[in-house]
Amino acid sequence: MKHDSIAVIDFGGQYAHLIANKVRRLNVLAEIKQPEDLVQDLSRFKGIILSGSPALTSEGDDPGLNRQIMSMDVPILGLCFGHQEIAHHYGGAIEQTGREWGRTLFHKTVEHPLLKGLSDKEQVWMSHNDSVTSLGDDFIELGYTILEDGGKQHRFAAIGSDKLRRYGVQFHPEVDDTLNGDVILGNFVKEICGCASSWTMDKYLEQQIDAIKKQVGDGSVFLLASGGVDSTVAAVLFARAIGNKRLHLLHIDNGLMRKDESANVINMYKELNLIDNFHFYDATVDFLEALGTESEPEKKRAIIGNTFVEIFDREARRLGIEDHLLGQGTIYPDTIETGATKRSDTIKTHHNRVPVIEELIKQGKVIEPLADLYKVEVRELGEKLEIPSKLIWRHPFPGPGLGVRLLCSDISEQKDDKLIAMELETQKVVQQYGLTATVLPVKSVGVKADLRTYENPVLLTGTADFEKLTEAAGRVFKEVKGINRCVWNFSKEVPQDVKSIKGYMTKERLDLLREADAIVMNGLKKYNLYDKIWQCPTVFVPIEIDGTPGELCVVRPIYSERAMTATAASLPEELIKELTEKIMALGGISALTLDLTSKPPGTIEWE
Ligand code: XMP
Repeated sequence: MKHDSIAVIDFGGQYAHLIANKVRRLNVLAEIKQPEDLVQDLSRFKGIILSGSPALTSEGDDPGLNRQIMSMDVPILGLCFGHQEIAHHYGGAIEQTGREWGRTLFHKTVEHPLLKGLSDKEQVWMSHNDSVTSLGDDFIELGYTILEDGGKQHRFAAIGSDKLRRYGVQFHPEVDDTLNGDVILGNFVKEICGCASSWTMDKYLEQQIDAIKKQVGDGSVFLLASGGVDSTVAAVLFARAIGNKRLHLLHIDNGLMRKDESANVINMYKELNLIDNFHFYDATVDFLEALGTESEPEKKRAIIGNTFVEIFDREARRLGIEDHLLGQGTIYPDTIETGATKRSDTIKTHHNRVPVIEELIKQGKVIEPLADLYKVEVRELGEKLEIPSKLIWRHPFPGPGLGVRLLCSDISEQKDDKLIAMELETQKVVQQYGLTATVLPVKSVGVKADLRTYENPVLLTGTADFEKLTEAAGRVFKEVKGINRCVWNFSKEVPQDVKSIKGYMTKERLDLLREADAIVMNGLKKYNLYDKIWQCPTVFVPIEIDGTPGELCVVRPIYSERAMTATAASLPEELIKELTEKIMALGGISALTLDLTSKPPGTIEWE
């Protein structure tokens, strides 16, 4: 069965996946497409949505839109930048009118199918500098907002032409702060484009089982089983389609796993009754040798990725992969690039689309039954497959594992003059909160305006409630250049002397990190926080504090939905006390801290 579907044209930023996700929640299939895509490639869609963008129409920024798309005979809805593109294309004017940002009141001007079910006034989310200041002949205003800044300025917030079947909204219906954004998207895809709500998980499951049966024929599938949600759901799905006798599983321990992870994975596959053709390879030595004394994050990632491919290649040959199709638990965002979209900067390199695998894909030897799905949909599919929820709702764990949570350094150094100046500047910002700032002489990865940053963290010491701590951190990010993270010291003692020390990817350091991480995970479970918190990396940074060399341990609980953005979560005082006792008792820890950083400006992982 073919589903009615919508193309979401991705103009950059973080919006396109959000839009596609929201449309899919309405049971209509949405796919991400690029502005330069050809009309032929878009002809199967029943409607098109143009996303927002960091570009400015008023400055003539060219987002590379293939203008022929505008002459297609399907409805098109533009959001924010897309709204301006539509207005501009059909004879309207766009000007730099100043920033309209945040929650805003939308006033409906007329009754229109796009706004069906909305009240006369609605809360919407705005984020733009350019505005539509006049409309082309065929367009009418459907709604407006009033910008209070410097007098009451009118803004065209929703426009449309039923003759052309072109519509635009200046706000972001894909963002939760637009309270009835789903209604507007639903009106567009169902009322205006006429899409049927056929994209349901039950149907998807049925179709995938048929598709797997067809592609595998009387052959078999070889699947890499990491123990994560995606490969587990894929494994159960394959078994449902072709039976467990023809499913071969390989689990590689890269030595960068959590405490007892491989043993747990083996038990899990036993529980799922998928142990018949389960193969295990312990590659700890291979990985640690390959990583050696490397400390640069992207190089570490590349080494981990390449070593993985080498070991996988060798083991798969040994197990006779040529006789099977290669199954992968790749999900939709991975196929678009690194979890973000094609137009966004490669903030970190993920490694599930490496050349060897690309080659196998070309030969038609790869089968990826989850490649159309977002993570929430994979979990929904897992529930349909009756996989126990404790397996489906495990926190995500990155492919390079603890490799991105154990920071390495091959130099031992104190703060230089630049860092001392940065520290003074930070201190000025945080002293009104009763906090003391210590800039750490190490760097971690972050993201600002969709670009990768590699900057210094700052350690805040002092007593303040979580709200004040995050407020202080927010001000530091805004006001001090070169800081992309703030962590809060569990100890009240202000460090006097801090220096980075040498530290490599060794088994000893990894074992200590595994212990600390297990203490944190057990703590979250004990306080019923595991299911509320989206992910909680524990990170080690090699740092000497007041003459005590060791690991500065960072606990990073976050709330998130799709990992594109995240906010720092607080921990109850009792838990902090317990963590302090247990983690400090491990020995070798120079300080214990809580990460206060949202994403942006930090990333979830430190590297
Ligand atoms: P960041 O750190 O970029 O992470 O905010 C976003 C989400 O992606 C996970 N992550 C990875 N997952 N391979 C993966 O499979 C990777 O190389 C990788 N890097 C980050 C991270 O744990 C978070 O959930």
